[in-house]
Amino acid sequence: MATLVIVGSQWGDEAKGKIVDVLGSEAEVVVRYSGGNNAGHTVITGGKTFKFQLLPAGILHEGTISILGGGMAVCPKGLLEELERTRALQPELGDLRISPAAHVVFPYHRALDALEEKARGDDKIGTTSRGIGPCYTDKVQRTGIRMGDFVNPDKFRDKLATVVAFKNKLMTLLGGEPMDFESLHAEYSAYADQIRPMVQETDHVVQEAVANGARVLFEGAQGTFLDLDHGTYPYVTSSHPTAGGACLGTGVGPRSIDNVLGVCKAYSTRVGSGPFPTELHDETGEQIRQQGNEFGTVTGRPRRCGWLDLVALKHSSRINSMSGLVLTRLDVMANVGPIQVATGYEVDGQVIGHVPSTPEEWESAKPVFETLAGWDEDITGAQSWDDLPKNVQDYVRFVEHATSTPAAILSIGPDRKQTIVLRPDLIWG
Ligand code: IMP
Repeated sequence: MATLVIVGSQWGDEAKGKIVDVLGSEAEVVVRYSGGNNAGHTVITGGKTFKFQLLPAGILHEGTISILGGGMAVCPKGLLEELERTRALQPELGDLRISPAAHVVFPYHRALDALEEKARGDDKIGTTSRGIGPCYTDKVQRTGIRMGDFVNPDKFRDKLATVVAFKNKLMTLLGGEPMDFESLHAEYSAYADQIRPMVQETDHVVQEAVANGARVLFEGAQGTFLDLDHGTYPYVTSSHPTAGGACLGTGVGPRSIDNVLGVCKAYSTRVGSGPFPTELHDETGEQIRQQGNEFGTVTGRPRRCGWLDLVALKHSSRINSMSGLVLTRLDVMANVGPIQVATGYEVDGQVIGHVPSTPEEWESAKPVFETLAGWDEDITGAQSWDDLPKNVQDYVRFVEHATSTPAAILSIGPDRKQTIVLRPDLIWG
């Protein structure tokens, strides 16, 4: 067994970056399969803090091949800036390759993201304004510009001319400003020149690595309930963060995936609009926000905070066929008092133990809580399961039982070292 998907099991921001960094150091290939620079992964190592939006966390490991898969939406400007920022902190990086099938995000996508949000008024999605939705819209409309086109000067000029003429009409209609084709073309051609050497065949690289039994890590972004199909539609992102997206976004089939780890916070957060049954609007919610520093890495927005939703997590475990859970930010829950977890929902006067099939029902679902004992101890220095207070152990066991999913890893602080591996067999087998 050598292939592993790391997936966000909630609404994103589950601290996947740290986990991908820890496990990425053990992989030969790390491939990101969906989303773009709407994601924000923080990796703290050797006293340095890296903030990744597009780069796979494997980039920090020399000798590791890092891939931006065909399922992604890549902003060239953002990518080059991120590479520069990362090189300033660590000059030697891993080998980065970009799939020719990945779609390119342009300024008109960002402009349309803002204009469309404005047009939605009170029904706005609360996007990250990175142009991700409009870029994937072009993909589905079959008018998108892919990395392979972008780095081919003739093709790029032709395609961009057609698209810009169309987008200018659209932006004008929505009250925006048209863009000047020549200056956009000149700016982005310069980015294409820098990016060209990185655009290489990647599906084959991943397939060969899988065939040769090399360790391949598929790095998810966002989270299960932001998935275009499985999330709280329409309050979702426009790609597939779920484990199935790893196949679509990289060119391997479902039987190539050995293990799936679902990363989950010890509580819940969400940024942007949409259903969140266990959301807290009180002092405890504020305490969790402050203790967990729950402010968006990409947008700086305060995250909505709430109790852990085990109904949703069980559903997430099934959607992703999780082999195990990675429970993160357990340390943040110290001193919040007794901890509540949702084990059911009340919908139309009936208590159910599963996620309702319509977003409206999910929105109106009242969580049925069980109360568990909290803890006041600082657990950030624990080295093993036995070092953890009994109430923390009981909390972990409760989550495992309610979701029928074993805990593989616990994270008790932001540093690589603050990681307790409980089930190595659920990682690389
Ligand atoms: P978009 O992906 O920018 O279109 O935003 C759609 C929804 O997904 C909004 O609610 C965003 O806040 C949310 N979202 C997108 N990326 C992330 C992420 O990496 N973490 C958490 N939420 C995200």
